[in-house]
Amino acid sequence: MELSGKTKICGVIGDPIEHTLSPIIQNAAFKSLALDFVFVAFRVKRAELRNAISGMRSLGILGLNVTMPHKSAVMKYLDKIDPTAAFIGAVNTIHNDDGKLIGFNTDGIGALKTLEENGVNLSGKKLLLFGAGGAARAIAFYAAKEAEELVILNRTAEKARRLAESLQKKFCKRIVGNSLSKGFIRQNLQDSDVLINATSVGMYPNTSQNLVSSEWLKPDLCVMDIVYNPVETRLVKNAKAVGARVIGGIEMLIHQGAESFEVWTGRSAPLKVMKEALLDKLSGGETSLDGKG
Ligand code: ATR
Repeated sequence: MELSGKTKICGVIGDPIEHTLSPIIQNAAFKSLALDFVFVAFRVKRAELRNAISGMRSLGILGLNVTMPHKSAVMKYLDKIDPTAAFIGAVNTIHNDDGKLIGFNTDGIGALKTLEENGVNLSGKKLLLFGAGGAARAIAFYAAKEAEELVILNRTAEKARRLAESLQKKFCKRIVGNSLSKGFIRQNLQDSDVLINATSVGMYPNTSQNLVSSEWLKPDLCVMDIVYNPVETRLVKNAKAVGARVIGGIEMLIHQGAESFEVWTGRSAPLKVMKEALLDKLSGGETSLDGKG
């Protein structure tokens, strides 16, 4: 990659950050479209967040992805927040639009596009969602618009209930939040069409963790896991074994990155190139500690 005096800079901020896969995906995309852009990772400690965002302004950095632990805290330093990101309460993408910093959240749309690409349309379907953290909120926001029925189960039941309540108010649909107990999982799986795991259960190094017994899975269920390290979680493996349709976390990681790419460059993201670059990197083994979309 040849850098020039006009190279536009994008990056990701977080702490820890050294295991991020975003530079692999984004630089492969820039290169394939011959864009004079570069993507780098910046470790930014909590106490440095305000300065980092000032730095983005003064250095004219065009775009940033934002990851743990800054997704919510960064919002107060931006000039404008996209309404969806405001509802979700988290920003994972910043665009420096001629000096004006605008915050977006591409997790939810990334998940929805992943489902679409795999031929899954949520309309008229029941979706069972595990988790009520940042990624789950983003997915729930988009899924609530589409799905006929949405059940959100979370280890901290209160968070699932609050999320369900706020979505119910917004979309005027029956949305239920409850605890991530074996009983609720089993009961809801019986009539669910799609299951999405948006918790970190099963993520490296705890790869044997799994919330769903194999006997509760069925071939007509679609199972999506947003954990991408390992590439196939225990949940995905078990679902595959019973003949269910499965979608791994890599897909969402790509789509969420593609949405950010499009915000910054205004170009269609080369999805295939991004996916190949990532799979190539991950074929090296389960080494990343950052393993969830
Ligand atoms: P992100 O922004 O990536 O979604 P997060 O906001 O920290 O990260 O959310 C992590 C999610 O994984 C939460 O739903 C969390 O449940 P709690 O809200 O109860 O903390 C869930 N999670 C993490 N570890 C878990 C575990 N061992 N069992 C069940 N759920 C877990």
